[in-house]
Amino acid sequence: MRRAIYPGSFDPITLGHLDVIERSARLFDEVVVALLLNIDKQPMFTTEERVEMIRAVVPDSNVRVDTFEGLLVHYAVAQQAQFVVRGIRAISDYEYELQMALMNRRLEPSVETVFLMAGEAYSYISSRLIKEVFTLGGSIRGLVPELVEKRMRDKLKR
Ligand code: PNS
Repeated sequence: MRRAIYPGSFDPITLGHLDVIERSARLFDEVVVALLLNIDKQPMFTTEERVEMIRAVVPDSNVRVDTFEGLLVHYAVAQQAQFVVRGIRAISDYEYELQMALMNRRLEPSVETVFLMAGEAYSYISSRLIKEVFTLGGSIRGLVPELVEKRMRDKLKR
């Protein structure tokens, strides 16, 4: 059983994330989308909201959604996952991702980090940019799942 963890804060999930999830689901027997609890930054969506949105948009064949806290490699071992998947958009992502991958390898050599190149259409988007553009009145159509766009609109109304 080749199991991969796709970790992140997903505040909110974007079509870039979804593209990586769908492609990973074709590479591995099971993909666990793992949402990090207790991120320091003030999130736009609660953990429950983020989990619910992810569950609604990922393929339900071999993708599971879960939350984790503490070290990612400890979680991966507990889940019996041999792989961690990360998407790389531009060269600017590389340094941070390299640091994490090497630190994770040092902590737990049995867990291999696998990088997927983000789809070209999504190579410039991030959850942070999506939130900024949206809250300042710009269109994010085609960059997040429709459900996410609707939830963001609902948030802004309140
Ligand atoms: O969506 P993000 O913010 O890019 O995801 C970052 C994440 C969740 C992958 C990273 O912060 C993480 O793995 N945190 C868990 C704590 C941990 O293992 N830290 C050591 C990493 S070398």
